[in-house]
Amino acid sequence: MAWLHAFPFLGVLAIAALRYACVTDLRFNNSQYDRKPNVVIIFADDLGYGDLSCFGHPTSHTPFIDEMANKGLVFTQFYSTSPVCSPSRASLLTGRYQTRSGIYPDVFSPGDIGGLPHNETTIAEFLGRHGYKSAAIGKWHLGVGVNGTYLPTNHGFDEYYGIPYSHDMCPCPVCFYPDGSCIRPCRNNEAPCPLFGNTTIVEQPADLISLTKKHIDKATDFIKEATDARNPFFLYYASYQTHHPQFAGQRFTNSSIRGAFGDALAELDWSVGMILKTVKDAGIENNTYVFFTSDNGPSMTREIQGGSAGLLKCCKGTTYEGGMRVPAIAYWPGVIPPGRTHELASTLDLLPTIATLLGKKPPLRLDGVDMEEILLRHGKSKRDTFFYYPVGADPRFGVFAVRYKQYKAHFWTKGSGLCGQRNPDDDCRITALRTKHNPPLLFDLDADPAERYNINKSPKGKRIIPFIAKLKKKFDERMKWGTSQIRRGANNTLIPCCNPGCTPFPQCCHCERGKSSLVEMLWKYVISDDT
Ligand SMILES: *[C@@H]1O[C@H](CO)[C@@H](O)[C@H](O)[C@H]1NC(C)=O
Ligand SMILES: *[C@@H]1O[C@H](CO)[C@@H](O)[C@H](O)[C@H]1NC(C)=O
Ligand SMILES: *[C@@H]1O[C@H](CO)[C@@H](O)[C@H](O)[C@H]1NC(C)=O
Ligand SMILES: *[C@@H]1O[C@H](CO)[C@@H](O)[C@H](O)[C@H]1NC(C)=O
Ligand SMILES: *[C@@H]1O[C@H](CO)[C@@H](O)[C@H](O)[C@H]1NC(C)=O
Ligand SMILES: *[C@@H]1O[C@H](CO)[C@@H](O)[C@H](O)[C@H]1NC(C)=O
Ligand SMILES: *[C@@H]1O[C@H](CO)[C@@H](O)[C@H](O)[C@H]1NC(C)=O
Repeated sequence: MAWLHAFPFLGVLAIAALRYACVTDLRFNNSQYDRKPNVVIIFADDLGYGDLSCFGHPTSHTPFIDEMANKGLVFTQFYSTSPVCSPSRASLLTGRYQTRSGIYPDVFSPGDIGGLPHNETTIAEFLGRHGYKSAAIGKWHLGVGVNGTYLPTNHGFDEYYGIPYSHDMCPCPVCFYPDGSCIRPCRNNEAPCPLFGNTTIVEQPADLISLTKKHIDKATDFIKEATDARNPFFLYYASYQTHHPQFAGQRFTNSSIRGAFGDALAELDWSVGMILKTVKDAGIENNTYVFFTSDNGPSMTREIQGGSAGLLKCCKGTTYEGGMRVPAIAYWPGVIPPGRTHELASTLDLLPTIATLLGKKPPLRLDGVDMEEILLRHGKSKRDTFFYYPVGADPRFGVFAVRYKQYKAHFWTKGSGLCGQRNPDDDCRITALRTKHNPPLLFDLDADPAERYNINKSPKGKRIIPFIAKLKKKFDERMKWGTSQIRRGANNTLIPCCNPGCTPFPQCCHCERGKSSLVEMLWKYVISDDT
């Protein structure tokens, strides 16, 4: 920077500008903003804290999300409420812990009887009361039930387009190989993946190669139509990527030096870019609040084809940081000043924050708090605690860990098969059985985000542990567990089928074969089941 030497005065200005850019743009005036902003939530699947380029991954290619991070507010301490999918989605959409709505102990299967109870208020229902149009596009995983009673269109969304559960729950009998073969034995009790348009199956098996593109086309149409009709809208875009098995459209296959995972991530990144571009082109960027995050930490079962929690410990399926701390970015040019925040926040907080942005009262009995102060002024969080429910949540144990300010106490720990058999950390593997810790393990996450150094015997630790133990006791005692919707079990007749009454069921649920080329499918990375 030779010119800095020639013009030291300019150098000072440049450094001042940089400081503003990195910390908070104090000149930012967002006292006025649209009180009916459009809301877009982009929810990635199994994307870990360390997977994005803007969160430090050296070989991921995520230019669009990086741009969103540059112009938006990056959260470094943001949590999903569960280390697996269905519970995490329930609390994002309701602002309430999944235990209240009965979305535990794990996740829904295709023929399940239960689903998100209708007395819960989703973000779509809340916004619907205020004149919004809502669409859910992508993975649902909060139940289908008899006659699709639990699908998004029965939970406040005007439209739904997507596969209502994980795409690894239905890959057979079409495995997308050129010769039609399957890499793993087909499971006879599975139907091919159904792609729903509202409550009707429009394609089965869903063609994964063109899936992301079709979803983006739907999202684009939805945004344009709502904008043309001058209707405020809510788009809930729940990507299947980067859940296993990794797949990507033709453009992205072999596009990344990170392999199959990198290719899937590149397509996810593209889809984020397309949504932001559509919003910008529609001229509504300054009244659209966009939030990007992930449902839980990375699955590591497939080792080098899996995700990364970066410096955080363990993975999906555990209550260590790697299981539940996720990347998050808030984006609203002109209203949310760019920067980074270390404030504590959670998917629970999305619904109450939206209510505050609208200037409306949120639904009653929420666990979330509003993040307006963090978003608009880079201020303090209203949250100083966070409670970690494990997979297999059970009232006998309650929450496994509690975070209070920077301290996290583990009262119970347990490894997970989702961390992989060869995980170098013993604590993460499935062989680490449920273990009670008394006194709890204690970590200072500000100084030690990797949870390496237990400080429960330090003077500070001894002082803080009784207080955190009280928080746990009070929280567990007050929690009203809803009846488990997942334990209601399955009835095979409920497996979504485009060809009702066909035999042999459910493999015969086969209506329109995907039209795109079968070659690019990355099924070769399938090793075992996942959720
Ligand atoms: C911010 O903008 C509002 C409305 O545009 C204006 O009334 C207010 O004076 C501005 N505040 C600052 C500090 O510039
Ligand atoms: C957004 O920008 C458009 C055009 O740039 C302008 O007309 C409109 O008033 C702005 N809306 C808000 C809420 O600032
Ligand atoms: C499901 O829909 C079918 C056809 O419309 C109807 O006959 C049946 O009663 C419905 N079942 C329930 C439980 O609502
Ligand atoms: C779903 O319903 C919406 C609203 O009624 C409608 O606009 C859309 O075309 C429907 N989609 C499908 C695939 O039927
Ligand atoms: C991707 O790379 C693999 C391995 O090099 C190759 O077999 C495959 O044909 C490539 N696919 C495409 C669409 O380029
Ligand atoms: C819905 O009903 C269930 C079961 O009665 C209950 O556990 C849950 O708390 C209720 N939800 C709301 C929002 O009232
Ligand atoms: C499954 O559902 C079918 C159709 O509603 C019903 O006849 C059958 O009894 C159910 N099976 C079980 C085990 O509940």
